Amino acid sequence: MRKAFLVINALLTLSLIAQLYLAALGVFSEPEEELFRFHGMNGRIILPILLILWIVFGFIARIGRTNIILTFVCLVLLALQTAYFIIAGAMGASPPPNATTPGATSYVLALHGLGGTVLLLLTAWVFVRVKAMGPIVRRSADALQT
Ligand code: HEM
Repeated sequence: MRKAFLVINALLTLSLIAQLYLAALGVFSEPEEELFRFHGMNGRIILPILLILWIVFGFIARIGRTNIILTFVCLVLLALQTAYFIIAGAMGASPPPNATTPGATSYVLALHGLGGTVLLLLTAWVFVRVKAMGPIVRRSADALQT
């Protein structure tokens, strides 16, 4: 089960690396919003599915309390990726194609880049931590009796 967890973990980390690439693809293309849709699709569909699966397998693979807490921190960070847009919108920012970023909304939206990077690093860290734990050790009935 640890192996399954690590496979999902690797897919999640790779999807997050792809997410950075897809963000840059959107920024460096014209019209910007057209290719940004791949970043949006990965962010709204693939990443949430992988992250939920990752958490479920975390419990099954008994990865320990600290690692479970870290996976939930990642879930919160992913939810915040959407929340930054909502908060900036409430503060008066408007999305493309007629984007406006009045007042401090640019600072709120910039947290999207920072938060995503922290999320990527955290998933890589959990991978290293769980890999170091090795496979689940089951003590057999015989071993318990002796
Ligand atoms: C690994 C880092 C990143 C992660 C995990 C991430 C995650 C996400 C997610 C989950 C969404 C969907 C939000 C929603 O509409 O509900 C999204 C959309 C978006 N992200 Fe990122 N993001 C990352 C990096 C970036 C960077 C560096 C930029 C800056 C260029 C960026 C710009 C955007 C924009 C403009 C959208 C809206 C796209 C659309 O409307 O379809 N993201 N991102």
